[in-house]
Amino acid sequence: MWRIGDLEIDGGVVLGPMSGFTFASYRDFMKPFGVAVSVSEMVSGMGLVYGQDRTARYLEFGQERPMGIQLFGSKPDAMAEAAVKALEARPTIDFFDFNMGCPVPKVIRNGAGSALMKDPAACGRIIRSMKSAVDVPITVKMRLGWDSESINFREVIDEVVSAGADAITIHARTKEERYTGTPHYDLIEGLQSELSVPLIVSGNIYSLDDAINAMDITGATAVMVARGGIGNPFLVTQIDRYLRTGEVLPNPTVSQQVEWCLELMDMVLEEKGEVMGMSKLRSIVPKFVAGCWNCREYRRDIARHASDRESMVRILMQAEAEMGDKRIYSYGKPAPDCDFGCE
Ligand SMILES: Cc1cc2nc3c(=O)[nH]c(=O)nc-3n(C[C@H](O)[C@H](O)[C@H](O)COP(=O)(O)O)c2cc1C
Repeated sequence: MWRIGDLEIDGGVVLGPMSGFTFASYRDFMKPFGVAVSVSEMVSGMGLVYGQDRTARYLEFGQERPMGIQLFGSKPDAMAEAAVKALEARPTIDFFDFNMGCPVPKVIRNGAGSALMKDPAACGRIIRSMKSAVDVPITVKMRLGWDSESINFREVIDEVVSAGADAITIHARTKEERYTGTPHYDLIEGLQSELSVPLIVSGNIYSLDDAINAMDITGATAVMVARGGIGNPFLVTQIDRYLRTGEVLPNPTVSQQVEWCLELMDMVLEEKGEVMGMSKLRSIVPKFVAGCWNCREYRRDIARHASDRESMVRILMQAEAEMGDKRIYSYGKPAPDCDFGCE
């Protein structure tokens, strides 16, 4: 057990916020695999202040608790007002996470996301303002710095923790690195022992070994599963089980993957409707058939031919019939003895 402010957290896996992916049904689907804490896609603080309906829709959530809404923006007063408005609309929000890591140009142009890493004092002002406006915990998600010449996460952490931040997530890359290359866990070695609040680490968590490695180096209280969990929900179970018992669970079979994928498809289609749901699923479903023999052709079929739920199900069923009892050998990595027809 650990705490984010006064919230008790049971488990060491945090589901990372991902725009376009971690909408309510996706989070609900992932929760039973062992997610301890879920965070929403980032929500525009200014959108909430201006009362935009489109923004308010991002506050939808399902069964998963504890659950944080992630806000982005750059103005202390507006972010405080956004948090108040979000809580008025959804009084069950457990905490807010504040985004200081987004590298997208349209966000940083407005001084938000990772642009804030350039101004540690401004980071502190925003957190102080949010803390004084609402009673729920406030967490922060940041990067190492803007680029390799300006690694300043310690300074930013000092500012936001003095301002009252209740936990820190650090994505161990700079803004310039976006999502590429190997995360620099070496730069945050032992960081948890220097902090008075829980540390959550993020960056390339695709396997249990990745999670163990990141936690061992940094001493972090929890690890964030983001891209690695898309199409591989059992990764969360593998990490959660290991952290609780030391047990190493084998990878799932293709049959299990197909079963979970069908479950997720129904949940997404129910939340988003056919058109929007299928568009989301086209980027998620192929990832359920990765890391298995001959699965590249199924992924290609899904991308080319799956225009509706029925055709997607048909392709998944073919994959199951051909290799249902085979275990996924690795995620996103080629099989050691693979020659063709696999990746
Ligand atoms: C498509 C996509 C969308 C993302 N959206 C957000 C977001 O809204 N807020 C945020 O703090 N991080 C966001 N992230 C960053 C992830 O939460 C995570 O920190 C990052 O992907 C590193 O972890 P990974 O390498 O294990 O995926 C996003 C990442 C991706 C790939």
